[in-house]
Amino acid sequence: MAKKTAGFDIGNHAVHIALVNKKGLKKVFSEPLPEGAVREGRIVSYEALGDFLKQTCKKRKIRFDDAAVILPAGLCFCRRLSTPVMTHEQLTVNLPYEFRDFITAEKEAYFYDYAVLRVIKDDKDRPSELDLMAAATLKSTISDYKNMFRRAGIKLRTAVPVEMAYTNLLRKSAEDENHCHCIVDLGHTSVRLMMFVGGRFESSHLVEYGCSALDGVIAEALHIDPFIAASYREANHDDCQSLPECINVYQSIAAELQRAIYFVRYNNPDVELEHIHITGGGAKITPLRETLEQTLSVPVLDASEILDVPGVDIEFGLSAAGAAMQ
Ligand SMILES: Nc1ncnc2c1ncn2[C@@H]1O[C@H](COP(=O)(O)OP(=O)(O)OP(=O)(O)O)[C@@H](O)[C@H]1O
Ligand SMILES: [Mg+2]
Repeated sequence: MAKKTAGFDIGNHAVHIALVNKKGLKKVFSEPLPEGAVREGRIVSYEALGDFLKQTCKKRKIRFDDAAVILPAGLCFCRRLSTPVMTHEQLTVNLPYEFRDFITAEKEAYFYDYAVLRVIKDDKDRPSELDLMAAATLKSTISDYKNMFRRAGIKLRTAVPVEMAYTNLLRKSAEDENHCHCIVDLGHTSVRLMMFVGGRFESSHLVEYGCSALDGVIAEALHIDPFIAASYREANHDDCQSLPECINVYQSIAAELQRAIYFVRYNNPDVELEHIHITGGGAKITPLRETLEQTLSVPVLDASEILDVPGVDIEFGLSAAGAAMQ
């Protein structure tokens, strides 16, 4: 039987699991997390979450051979950098110095990894520079994740930053050097914009509020409890997603994204931004999507334009699928 890998994206609201085999993505599962299990992207109890993952896989009958997980942005540093052409051994020695301005503990406390995106040649066509995507994460983070998955009875094969997960997907579809993919993840507690040029990660921007910010405004407008407002929001009860108070929130998100896009365009004048792709639960909120389209003046496309598998809700599993394809 073909080997199956499960990609895990543990969000603030739900865990998204993408099942992938050699031929590609097969299925996506999403399961809401217990209240308070993840706060600001960080797992509160690795033991409790390990038990939850075990129960979820059993309950949903999710079967696979090994797993890949996305590391939250707060627990790993990821950056593009260029170095002179060098060997793997030389890179291993040099990478810790490239992260010295970011890391806080001793450099020996971190794992470092990299992927070569491009070998840049000089005017005599000789390799001169390496264009790299590099990441650093605490060794203790990797052992926390390994232990959590072991507790769930899952063999963790790899852990990657989200930028790398998307790179795995986009590299294959990057038609030309200047083609720009802009992915906007409309999440629960934040919105994250990520730009990829020619399939390579370029930059990201974080808006520090997401769909859950709507609960307070719906609660206030309708004089209900914020907890009930959350269920109203998800079900679009009485079309509450179109309340003027909600539209204000969509407009603030759109204005922040617009600033980030201007900035990228300013730094990369050759880059053509033809459209953006939206993922995350917020992609299901039609007035949010319409506000983005009006404010950003670019077409807003579904995540399925990047990876389309009939019958699969890809807005919840795009990054998890990319992680599993590592
Ligand atoms: N069908 C839907 N209609 C409206 N809202 C939805 C729908 N499905 C999910 N949501 C909401 O979208 C939000 C984001 O969901 P998502 O699953 O992307 O969160 P997450 O990945 O856990 O969050 P984050 O990426 O911020 O950690 C949640 O607040 C969720 O309630
Ligand atoms: Mg998410």
